[in-house]
Amino acid sequence: MSKHRGVWQSNMGFLLAAIGSAIGLGNVWRFSYMAHQYGGGAFLVPYGVALLVAGLPIMLVEYGVGHLEKASSPLSFRRIGSRYEWLGWWMPVVAMFGIMLYYAVIIGWCVNYLFLSTTLAWGADPQTFFFTEFLQLTDSANNLGSFRPPILLATALVWFLCWLICYRDISHGIERASKIFMPILAILTLAMVAWTLTLEGAGHAILNNYLSADWSRINVFAAEPAVRTMAIKTWVAAFGQIFFTLSLGFGIMITYASYLPDKTNIAQNALVTCVVNCLYSLVAGLAVFGIVGFMAHSQAVPFDEAIKGGPQLAFVVYPKAISLLPSFNILFGVIFFLILIIAGLTSGVSLIEAFACSITDKFDWSRKRVVSTICTLCFAGSLIFTSQGGLYILDIADHFITNYGLVVGGLLECLLVGWVLKTTVLREHFARSGSIIPRFWDICVKFITPAILTMLVIFAINVDRTENYGGYTGTQLLFYGGGAMLVCLILALSLAFAAWRPEKLKRYHKPEEDDLLV
Ligand code: PHE
Repeated sequence: MSKHRGVWQSNMGFLLAAIGSAIGLGNVWRFSYMAHQYGGGAFLVPYGVALLVAGLPIMLVEYGVGHLEKASSPLSFRRIGSRYEWLGWWMPVVAMFGIMLYYAVIIGWCVNYLFLSTTLAWGADPQTFFFTEFLQLTDSANNLGSFRPPILLATALVWFLCWLICYRDISHGIERASKIFMPILAILTLAMVAWTLTLEGAGHAILNNYLSADWSRINVFAAEPAVRTMAIKTWVAAFGQIFFTLSLGFGIMITYASYLPDKTNIAQNALVTCVVNCLYSLVAGLAVFGIVGFMAHSQAVPFDEAIKGGPQLAFVVYPKAISLLPSFNILFGVIFFLILIIAGLTSGVSLIEAFACSITDKFDWSRKRVVSTICTLCFAGSLIFTSQGGLYILDIADHFITNYGLVVGGLLECLLVGWVLKTTVLREHFARSGSIIPRFWDICVKFITPAILTMLVIFAINVDRTENYGGYTGTQLLFYGGGAMLVCLILALSLAFAAWRPEKLKRYHKPEEDDLLV
């Protein structure tokens, strides 16, 4: 079987691709905004804890399962037990249809802004420009308006680029692209951070808003109920962010690890992926807080007034700051949007790979055909987000898919590996392939991580029951949020229902020595 499956040319190629998947739009603005909203430096504590008790253990689980079974998530879970296959489909399906469809559109916005930055086209009021000229946002989620041609064209380009990278096999496509893109990303990011640090007001904001800590935001034992609720929200956000940023619960890391040769230090790879990804977020945070600080300083407004969350951070705050720069504004704008595009593309292709590999594992269709079909169909699906009301749907879908889709997927995955496959099986596999991991990992996978993730889901449900997310109406939430989840579930179940070829279900056998890449 190994002959038919792709294989990474080198461990470095694998690491660059996995890190490329992890580092995405989420590292550049989602992390920074969360750090700001949830207590500055204090946020780093729950973030670090989430990394240790959920991020790293689940990364080991995903790498371990993929490497053990040499298969994508549906086939891997099916081999653990036939009734678990749907979960293996749920993960890539929900990520593909719930996240990637709009993720591609956001990368499309970045492509537009890359060109817009060459003339600083957003003018003096980037906020009005973004909402009324660029998106031409409608007044409510009930009114989608018409397609926005520049966004549509850029989204088509993004899907075309993804197709171009994924079309070829893993080592000639994604691995080669990662080897080119990741060093460029590192250089551009370091250049942007260094540049930002020289700006007036940047250092002050970094020290006072990023690295200073508001400890009350993480104190879940606070006497006052409001403070306690806020602290719980912080912990929930930190765990959600770790999942999203490490691309866990998408089926991606399982698929990527399935292309690794038998002798691999899985534990080391998991550690490197997690550490590099989180360090990247921390460093990118310096740039984001620095630039907002610079803007606050030059406009003489408080930091909290200058910073904005979500898409506005990249498409309103940054453009404004870029226009205010004393020199080389255009270059700065180009660097920033290139960073977003590269980070986004290397994450996007990993998800397409996970879904395409799941399909080829099951149906034995040619990879090229599968990738072409996926990219075409998903481009069609992305169209809804390129409409004038697309931002509303994006917001609703993102809320439900990240808070429930991914986290529930990760929770069930943990239970499956902890209690059905058994951690000892993976532990032995790790030892055979050359890595020893501490006992604490078993405890995390069996008890700590599932317990925390369950609390997270219960808490999210409670909040959603008491208040309508984002002020949308119940019908809108049910239609776009619930509807998206239902469609994904039906799709996952139908894909799981199709019959397998019996030979596929045999556990992977060790290839001959000469098959191994050393
Ligand atoms: N890890 C990615 C990020 O931080 C999340 C992601 C992965 C999104 C793959 C889409 C596809 O942005």
